Amino acid sequence: EMAEKEGYDHFMIKEINEQATAVRNTLTQRENIENIIKDFDDITRICFVACGTSYHASLTGKYLIESLAGIPTDVILASEFKFSQKTLNENTLVIFISQSGETADSLKALDVANETSKTLGIVNVAGSSITRRAQYVIQTQAGPEIGVAATKTYVSQLTAIYLFAALMAKDENLLNELNNVPDFIDEVLKDVESIKSMSKRYNYAKDFFYLGRGYSYPTALEGALKLKEISYIHGEGYAAGELKHGPLALIDEGIPVVVVIPPGDSHKKTMSNLEEVKSRGARVLAFGAADDEELALKAPEVFKINPEVSEIIAPLVYIVPLQLLSYYITIEKGFDPDKPRNLAKCVTVE
Ligand code: AGP
Repeated sequence: EMAEKEGYDHFMIKEINEQATAVRNTLTQRENIENIIKDFDDITRICFVACGTSYHASLTGKYLIESLAGIPTDVILASEFKFSQKTLNENTLVIFISQSGETADSLKALDVANETSKTLGIVNVAGSSITRRAQYVIQTQAGPEIGVAATKTYVSQLTAIYLFAALMAKDENLLNELNNVPDFIDEVLKDVESIKSMSKRYNYAKDFFYLGRGYSYPTALEGALKLKEISYIHGEGYAAGELKHGPLALIDEGIPVVVVIPPGDSHKKTMSNLEEVKSRGARVLAFGAADDEELALKAPEVFKINPEVSEIIAPLVYIVPLQLLSYYITIEKGFDPDKPRNLAKCVTVE
């Protein structure tokens, strides 16, 4: 096991560090995806079906496909899928996102979807059950992931989804921008010391909030899941605009609030949410652009992403410091991030 960790303390940190490579390797799937989507001219609706982290990747997919290609897209938790069964037809494409390709809830839904609709698996493990049963397959190229917390498989799923959405929408700009992502990720990884010191200041917390808007909303959900599953701290991801519809009541003196605030259309509104929580005593940890002067002024603590990453690309990059934050908080607390209690890498029971 020591040899497999290649000098890293844990598989999770090794896998976090392999993310630029995972994205680069998954970008090679472009041609395969181009061929697959030739069969999707008659698709009028897309449904993503997934669990956990793969569900968060799917949610990003909904935002991309709806905003770029204008195809109505739903995201359904695999365990809740049966309620949507009657809405499927031959013009529906059901996309199954799964790292392992063996998740029982997803497999069950796949069998149902195969009866009426086109099915596509976006899966990391070659030869797994989903790759055998789905009509079309895109293989993410993360390589084996040992840590229970999904990291490099998540950015690989996102990469495949971005390629799919950009190709469906024939968005050449986005396709070009994707090539910069591996370098953006490596830049973030160079600044690991800032996250380490941040983790020492926040490991006392019992609750965390994660806020994001638009494309950054799934990032907030995923950041919170990473925190929960390995550090055992309660983390709640919220769409920033939903704050005032309930959870604002929980914001109290000293509660850490992670705000995912890349530059772009959502920036202004997210900034006002940041000010809202700050004025109620929250300890704001902002993740934003290095040259965001307003953010530097308003947030007491900023992790700076440099060079600037656009709002649409942000999910592929901004998740990295959030994974690191969860990892180092877990180390501070003395837990094993690779083997969180009660969890298995592959959930083969419904
Ligand atoms: C992620 O960190 C979790 N371990 C979990 O939520 C996982 O993403 C979920 O069980 C889905 O697994 P899959 O991608 O293998 O289907």
